[in-house]
Amino acid sequence: MNNPAIEEVLSHINNKDTFVRAVFSGRRRNMQVPHERIDIRPVELKNIIKLQMQYSDGRKVTSRNVELDSKEISDLFNQGFSNILVEFTIGSIALRFTKKDELLIHRESGERSQDLSHDRVKSRLLDPSDPFLIEVGISDHKGVIKPSRQDKYKQVEEFLRLLSPTLTSAISAGHIHTPTVSTPLEIVDLGCGHAYLTFAAHQYFKNQGLPVKVTGIDVRPDSRLRNSNIAANLEISSTIEFKAQEIADIPISNVDVVIALHACDTATDDAIAWAVNSNAKLLLIAPCCHHDLQSQIKEAPEPWAMMTKHGLMKERLVDLITDSIRCQILKILGYRVEAIEFIGGEHTPRNLMIRAVKTSAAPDEIDILRYKEMLALWQVQPALASRLTEKLREI
Ligand SMILES: C[S@@+](CC[C@H](N)C(=O)[O-])C[C@H]1O[C@@H](n2cnc3c(N)ncnc32)[C@H](O)[C@@H]1O
Repeated sequence: MNNPAIEEVLSHINNKDTFVRAVFSGRRRNMQVPHERIDIRPVELKNIIKLQMQYSDGRKVTSRNVELDSKEISDLFNQGFSNILVEFTIGSIALRFTKKDELLIHRESGERSQDLSHDRVKSRLLDPSDPFLIEVGISDHKGVIKPSRQDKYKQVEEFLRLLSPTLTSAISAGHIHTPTVSTPLEIVDLGCGHAYLTFAAHQYFKNQGLPVKVTGIDVRPDSRLRNSNIAANLEISSTIEFKAQEIADIPISNVDVVIALHACDTATDDAIAWAVNSNAKLLLIAPCCHHDLQSQIKEAPEPWAMMTKHGLMKERLVDLITDSIRCQILKILGYRVEAIEFIGGEHTPRNLMIRAVKTSAAPDEIDILRYKEMLALWQVQPALASRLTEKLREI
């Protein structure tokens, strides 16, 4: 370590009277990190101050408490994180390792207070009494979430919880332009249905002061009518609109963000293909049912038949194969891709999310090879591959 700035950050984390929080994130060039992000904050347990470490791997968050001045904290500085932020009661220090591995230091002053409570309640992103939640029917007229709509509320909120930081990092990394009133952030929700997520994304980013233009697409004309009426009632029709169209028929246009929550079966493939062709910079796609490969795979290659002879296992395996191929196609077309669980299985069994950020990185030969071998092994032609034939031919 032996770097005065790092020593200084470490001493702030170990100062029980002034430490507010620290975040370790990002990855230094040619290094691997054990977690996507680590948050640290002080907590008081039986009159003793400890440090609560929260490890996020994009799929789940685990936490544990460690002692002040423990080796576990000092070791974090050698673990390959590129961004380290510490906040204390009178200021903050941000350390960033550049691509050339130079250390940049940014200091700010400002007052903050410590919160030493142990069980902090996860803050809500959407106020249940927001008029849009009442209009779409998630909350009742008193602004209380209806018991029958709790799962949908949770799905939408957790979706936003992943969308928001991914968007912030994509903007700060320059993958997405900084939105302005004249060039707002363009978000398209494909297979929007009753548009709970569409309205939520619109309201959430608007509340954050981010200029947005949101479009909800669904094949059903009654959805368009209902959603457009709600937008009119909320007086937000200038920044949100709805169209009744098949995803595959929407003209290609330049968009920033494409979201799709449970677009049925191959409508998810239509959504991904449309996003890729529209040069979307960020995709958050939570697939729905998977019938495409289920019907193509009649016989499994050996030794996989030992799994596929059990109907339930075949279904789960083929769902995973479908989503892995979707991820791989995105990867070889220049996206950085993760498959993450976006919500607990108790709220919906369809809780996998494909999160992809366009980096335009050239694909590795091994990734192309794996993709081709997978299709050859299982003798399948996935819907997404058929929709992106031209693009895939170029690689
Ligand atoms: C399961 S619902 C999900 C709705 C919404 N995203 C949500 O999570 O509440 C799927 C929606 O996708 C729409 N859909 C299915 N296939 C479509 C297609 N090819 N083009 C446009 N919309 C489609 C359906 O009409 C339906 O409203």
